[in-house]
Order: sequence, then structure tokens, then C-alpha cells
Amino acid sequence: MKQIDWNSLGFDAYRTRTVVLSHFKDGQWSPVEETETFSFTFDPFAQVFHYAISCFEGLKAFRQKDGRAAIFRPEENAARMARTAEYLGMPCPDKEMFIDMCERCVKGNAEFLPPYGHQASLYLRPLLVGMHPQMQLVPYPEAIFAVICAPAGSYYGAHLKSCAAVIPGNYDRAAPKGSGSYKIGANYAATFKPYKFAHEQGYAELLYLNSSTREYIDEFGSSNFFGIKGNKYITPLSDSVLPSITNKTLQEVAADFGMEVEKRPIRLEELDSFEEVGGCGTAVVITPISHIDIKPVLEAPEVAREFRFCPDGEVGPVSKKLYARITGIQFGELEDTHGWCHYLDV
Ligand SMILES: Cc1ncc(COP(=O)(O)O)c(C=O)c1O
Repeated sequence: MKQIDWNSLGFDAYRTRTVVLSHFKDGQWSPVEETETFSFTFDPFAQVFHYAISCFEGLKAFRQKDGRAAIFRPEENAARMARTAEYLGMPCPDKEMFIDMCERCVKGNAEFLPPYGHQASLYLRPLLVGMHPQMQLVPYPEAIFAVICAPAGSYYGAHLKSCAAVIPGNYDRAAPKGSGSYKIGANYAATFKPYKFAHEQGYAELLYLNSSTREYIDEFGSSNFFGIKGNKYITPLSDSVLPSITNKTLQEVAADFGMEVEKRPIRLEELDSFEEVGGCGTAVVITPISHIDIKPVLEAPEVAREFRFCPDGEVGPVSKKLYARITGIQFGELEDTHGWCHYLDV
């Protein structure tokens, strides 16, 4: 195997070795297989190709300071996938099977688990894919559940850096009572085009508003929103945002620090009063935001309004402290008082 430069890993579809999978058919899961073929064969009529019947999860395994390996909060991802699968009418592995297959994926790809000390981890991607060939718009109890993985860097190296975000006036992410709170592939399809324009203009993130009235903050394209005001950690209460496990963890960490946690609707104008703003998600833990522009038309030059939180590249003290606590627990440098680390022998 080619030597991996653990310090220069990004967040990429890195081809590892073992894929762990099981097939649900005729009312049961097949015995779990570990393969190295790295490809699936699907009927061209499979639900996934036409109707986007698929969902996924994202979680990480870490090599800790004392040499142990741990997966971070896998039971939360198992529960979230079960909720998404129910929404799509798909069969879903239970918590034990989900966690067992994640463990097998780490073990089967042990050489890709970054050693301690590089701020890197093994990102696990559990996938649930509808493979039944059909035309009709009805659920069918057949699916492949697979766990794949890729080594991932910290994105920022050892130091967080803030970046810009944009609120696109002409794009929405999720409809009220729609699919926004589920981790389905189709939700992401709608963000590819606005992400392209945002990135071309130097914005790292898209911030979406609630689509019915566009008065409230929903979430970023790939992470939840949080704002810091005095001693408060504030995050949107909305039916159309993904229930982020990182956000849940940050709320618990903030409470441990003696902060007040508010989960409530956040009006757009309230952005003016935040001292710090960030996105949060498994891939990067925290994306500190330096400023947010509102653009009535993303592709056009006009900026209707700007909210500034800190100079580009700099990071507020609370975001730094929250980030250090979570990553410290993940890498086994700080005591895991909540029992978030799921240890495995590898
Ligand atoms: C739309 C969206 N919101 C929020 C999150 C954060 O969720 P989690 O913290 O569980 O990774 C993600 C994924 O990382 C996401 O894709």
C-alpha cells in the first residue's frame, strides 16, 4: 500500500479496502459480508436511480492518545438512519447491526485509520440504498446496507480558520413539512448548483432560510447553524433542518461550560447581534463564519446586506473552546465524561 501522508488528508472519496454489506430481501438481512471489490451491481430500474431512494450517515473513528480506537456516538447515527429509513419506507438495520458493521468497517480498513497526532480520523459512511426494480411510487422492502470509509483530515490542520457564507435569495433547501430533517441523498442534490456559484465567489458555505417565509435561519448546506451571544449558545428550532449529532454534542459541551443553551426560531435580523457564528457537523466539527452576505440573486453581483462577526481567518474564543473540548474527547486527550466514545479492538 502507498504510504499515506496523514498530514495532508482532505475530505475526499479515498478508496480504501473493505466494504461491509448486507442485503435485505424476503423479510431478512443476509449474513454480513466483507468484500474488497468496491462496486455494486444494480438493476437499471432500481429505485435509487429514478426516485432517489437512498440515505446515508456520516461518523468518525479515531485513534486516541493512549492507542485505543473509538467511534464517536455511533448509536446516534443508528437512530437517525432508522428515522430516515422509516420516512423513505425502507428496511433499516437495528442499532446492534449498524454498530457492528461500522466496527467491522474500521477493522477491515485498519491501515487507513490515521495514527494519533495528525488531527485526522477515519470517516465512516453507512449507506442504505433502494435496489428494487420498479416504476411505481410505492415503498418496497429491499435494500443494500453498506458501510464504507475514507481517511479524513481535520480540514483546518491544528488551527481553526473562519470563512465566509452567503444567503442565496433565489435558492431554498427544504420545504415546510418536507424532507429537510432526514439525511436523504436528494436533499443534497439541490445544493450542488448553488454551492458551485457560492464557491466561485469565495463563499465556503450557503446559509438557508426557512423557505415558507424566509424570515428565519434554517441551516448551512452541510452543517447546522449556531450563534454565540454573551453566555448563550443559540441554535435554530426548525422542522426542516437535519438533527445534527455534532450540534447535540456542542449543546451538551456548552452546558458543561455553564453556558445557557437556547434552541428556538432565530430571526434573520438577529444575526446582527451574534458575537460568533459557526456551522457544525461531523466532517469539520465547527466551521467558524467570518461574515454572511445576503445576495438576492446568488449569480448576480449585488449584495443586499452583510453581517460581520470577525475578520476572515480569525475565530472567536467560544468557538475555539467548544472545538477544543470536542476534539479533545474524540482523540482521548480529555476525559469522556458523557460516554460518547464507543471503543473497539483494532
Ligand atoms: C445538511 C446537514 N446539516 C447538518 C449536518 C451535521 O450533522 P452531524 O453533526 O450529525 O454530522 C450535516 C452533516 O454533516 C448536514 O449534511
